[in-house]
Amino acid sequence: MKTIYILAFFLIPFLSSSQNPLAIPPVLTGNNFELNLQNSSREFFPGVSTNTMGANGSLLGPTLILNKGDFVTMNVSNNLGEPTTIHWHGMHVSAANDGGPHTVIAPGTTWSPQFTVLDHAATYWYHPHLHMKTAEHVTKGIAGFIIVKDDDEAALNLPRSYGTDDFPLVIQSRAFDADGQFIVQTAADDVMLVNGTIDPYLEAPALVVRFRLLNGSTDRAYLLGFEGDMTFYQIATDGGLLGAPLSLTRLQLAPGERAEILLNLDGMQGQSIRLKSFASELPNGIYGAASPSPMPVATIPGYSNNPLNGSDFDILRIDVVSPSANPVTSIPATLVAQTPIPEAQAQKTHTLTFQPQQMGPAGMANGPFVINGASFDLDVINYEIPLGNTEIWQLTNMSGIAHPFHIHDVQFYILDINGAAPPAYLQGRKDVVLVPPMGGTVRFITQFNDFADDEVPYMYHCHMLTHEDAGMMGQFVVNGPNATGTVSEQSAFFAYPNPATDAWKVVFEENIGQRSTFVLRNSVGKIIRNVELIVEPEVQIPCSELPSGWYVLEVRTGRQRASLSLLKM
Ligand code: C2O
Ligand code: CU
Ligand code: CU
Repeated sequence: MKTIYILAFFLIPFLSSSQNPLAIPPVLTGNNFELNLQNSSREFFPGVSTNTMGANGSLLGPTLILNKGDFVTMNVSNNLGEPTTIHWHGMHVSAANDGGPHTVIAPGTTWSPQFTVLDHAATYWYHPHLHMKTAEHVTKGIAGFIIVKDDDEAALNLPRSYGTDDFPLVIQSRAFDADGQFIVQTAADDVMLVNGTIDPYLEAPALVVRFRLLNGSTDRAYLLGFEGDMTFYQIATDGGLLGAPLSLTRLQLAPGERAEILLNLDGMQGQSIRLKSFASELPNGIYGAASPSPMPVATIPGYSNNPLNGSDFDILRIDVVSPSANPVTSIPATLVAQTPIPEAQAQKTHTLTFQPQQMGPAGMANGPFVINGASFDLDVINYEIPLGNTEIWQLTNMSGIAHPFHIHDVQFYILDINGAAPPAYLQGRKDVVLVPPMGGTVRFITQFNDFADDEVPYMYHCHMLTHEDAGMMGQFVVNGPNATGTVSEQSAFFAYPNPATDAWKVVFEENIGQRSTFVLRNSVGKIIRNVELIVEPEVQIPCSELPSGWYVLEVRTGRQRASLSLLKM
């Protein structure tokens, strides 16, 4: 009886021919960004209210448009009634500003990281990252795009009118229970959402359009392409533009990955074309293929009942309408110069092995999974990395299912996958890489620059959120050479007035023009502010909102640290 009800409930929206206009997230620009995390609800199916979470709305969040070099403040207010965090996925920020599981935003409070945008133009995203709650908070709806712009990108003839010829598409599969509520931990994710819209269509102009693709799914990977194998052009990977557009008919996108593509709709006015996942072509061993493992005995409960697995399905119908003003009608020949890190520069290789916690068929595809034999422990630092180190990370997957491995702080370059050079579409800046199953290996190279913090770690983990929450995660700290010592206080800077009521003015004699991190702690060592900025002769630290008492200001410039005691009246 129950089964019949569920089937009837879900077939109706698919069989109906009425499609829904694709939602385009609103944008926020400037230097101060307000994100209000809230509980809400949404009517995905007529007459059924689904409980959701969103940022500034009922589902997902606004697109943040940032310019490289800008100094930004993010005010993230948590009105969820439970703790969470917000992580800036793919961005290069200090560990304390990164929003990992240690940087909990208590309910009813606002977290206000401030940082300089150092990233290359590309598509990034933000999402919650509370340990063991990431899948739930993302599945219920919190995730948003971050678009970083820079001069290299601005110099190219690319579509960049947001919502007109430049469209963000966050692709997510969802499972609903019989009451129309999201199910978090399940393989029954058989409903597709794009930007939170079920069964969407988009009116796009008859010219070259740009799609910013994000796989924001909990576990599912896609093999994207267009109806009729129409050619498209990839222009960016996770963390930057490619050297030249790459002509493709298929693009694999695992959870957490992004790609920017161009599609030439010139001359197609009046026609429709579908963006699809050709999941029938995904090799077994990827969540989304016919089998989650090449090992026939290794499976996931309920996996084979999900009609999306191993079949081709629509993601988005694109209706081509008349071209907008200032059209881009050609694909550029080149994009931006690439600067991969030569393998010979590596100072260290780390070896990470993924395995099911328990060997045997039951866990091979289903997990839980561990890295180097250990499940995530918030109190264990797995690696200490010297600031500036160039490293190779060698990932070996001894489980039956592919895992999208993600690392915070850095972008990396893939050296090889199963011993062979990566396909062209994976040769740019990356922060997620899918590691093949059954002994598959990936090596990447990266450099840990700019931010050292001997207390707050960065994360690395599988971006299948159910795997991450079940412990497939580890953490590293980046240590500056002087991380434990303090250089002399008096010579570097002094503050006045001290005590102060409104603001301390910190005067520098050295380090002018250098990027530095300012960490203000209260008398029990809690970080009150963590700001990255370029040192000017005089830097203001506002304190009117702070309770009176003693504070310690630490300034980190390159490899130097200095600290000063400050009194708020
Ligand atoms: Cu998108 Cu650590 O995550
Ligand atoms: Cu991340
Ligand atoms: Cu995984």
